[in-house]
Amino acid sequence: MLDLRSPNLSRSAELYEIARAISPGGVHNGGRWDTPHPLYFTRAAGARLWDVDGNEYIDLHAGHGPAILGYNDPEVLEAVISALRDHGPHFGLGYPGEIELSRQMVELVPCAEMVGLCGGGGSDPCYHAIRLSRTFTGRKKIIRFEGSTHGWAEPLSISDGPSPDEAGPYEEPNRVAPPGALPEVIANTIVLPHNDPAVLERRLEREGHEVAAIIIEPVVQNLGCVPLLDGLPQLLRQFCDHYGIVLIYDEIQTGFRHDLGGMQKLHGVLPDLATFGKAMANGFILSAITGKREIMSLFQPTGQVRLSGTFNGHVLGVDAALKTVEILRRGEGATHRKLFRFGKMATDQIDEAIARLHVKARVQGFGSVFALYFTDQPVRNYRDLMPLRFGKLGALRERYRKYALAHGIYMSRHPGGRCFLSAAHTEDDVARIVDVTVRFLTEHRDELR
Ligand SMILES: Cc1ncc(COP(=O)(O)O)c(C=O)c1O
Repeated sequence: MLDLRSPNLSRSAELYEIARAISPGGVHNGGRWDTPHPLYFTRAAGARLWDVDGNEYIDLHAGHGPAILGYNDPEVLEAVISALRDHGPHFGLGYPGEIELSRQMVELVPCAEMVGLCGGGGSDPCYHAIRLSRTFTGRKKIIRFEGSTHGWAEPLSISDGPSPDEAGPYEEPNRVAPPGALPEVIANTIVLPHNDPAVLERRLEREGHEVAAIIIEPVVQNLGCVPLLDGLPQLLRQFCDHYGIVLIYDEIQTGFRHDLGGMQKLHGVLPDLATFGKAMANGFILSAITGKREIMSLFQPTGQVRLSGTFNGHVLGVDAALKTVEILRRGEGATHRKLFRFGKMATDQIDEAIARLHVKARVQGFGSVFALYFTDQPVRNYRDLMPLRFGKLGALRERYRKYALAHGIYMSRHPGGRCFLSAAHTEDDVARIVDVTVRFLTEHRDELR
């Protein structure tokens, strides 16, 4: 059943013809577009997806990351169905569940002295974190790192994936802004390469006292899977203390996925603010900003910074998050141990094949996230990834993704080739993912010398 060499995608193709006339590119998130057309899905359960043509896939997309327990986890579903019966989908008022979830976050997340639940995805708390930092410091500039995204807000998406023509010099990358960004927003956004403490230090010596915030993904999953250099989290903390800068850990991708306390717990570093979303409600809609009381208190009504939104702290998201946290707390982190074990199983076996085949490829993983790169050099920042995204190697990457699809494995069109495992994957699923990857490497070994 999984050995689909040329899956029939004709119904998706038909739907695309209808969809593209009424939505840009026939999708509602640019990242879901695909060539020659997007696929459309009607069913998702555990580690499986089914498209409208009835093709079944082992999933590596996790709905952009949230499905840590797998799609439509039965316990989370039950919790939400029962909550729906009790109180319906929405009333937009205080709810005891939000107090309990915030209490647990304060208990679990090292930097969380206070919690604000937001309404949409992870973009909301990331943007709030910038506004809080500017208000707290009275400064305008922010530092962000090339290739990361922190959502749709303009300063947070500048230089999130420039082409080689646009990118500019390594140490002072061009600020490649989305159309519509105001010059003042661009001027106050400093873009730096990831994992280069010397470049950061030099920039801070020049402008550190004007910087309100440094925002960073503590594992750079927007580059595929790029951990921070050893000691860098501690150094970031020292720099921020020295210059009076707010350190923001964007844990939208990493929070709940790698540990209930986030990467800050694994790094042993206390950011001033941290944002959460994605995996916290296993696919239901919720995000959060947490951090130091003196900064969080700047939110209305105790302060002046606006924290609002019709769907903030959405009750179904809260109910789903409470159940997700309950499951992740069981057996003293048994689910996270399984996710780390499966991730290691996949990366070890792919690594072993790369060495055996003598191909220029490299797999980087952390916990349940991994990425295969067509290079034998470490990927530490966007400039390492850039030649792998565009040109010949970019085309080869795309062939790998299509090859996986034709063999029943769904990978998204993520520029860094990021893949997510979930607690619903089995050892057989991991073996299948490894097998298809090794077959691709073997069949393309001449191109990968
Ligand atoms: C690290 C990071 N932060 C923030 C966001 C924005 O989250 P959302 O798309 O849910 O608004 C994303 C989205 O992928 C992300 O990867």
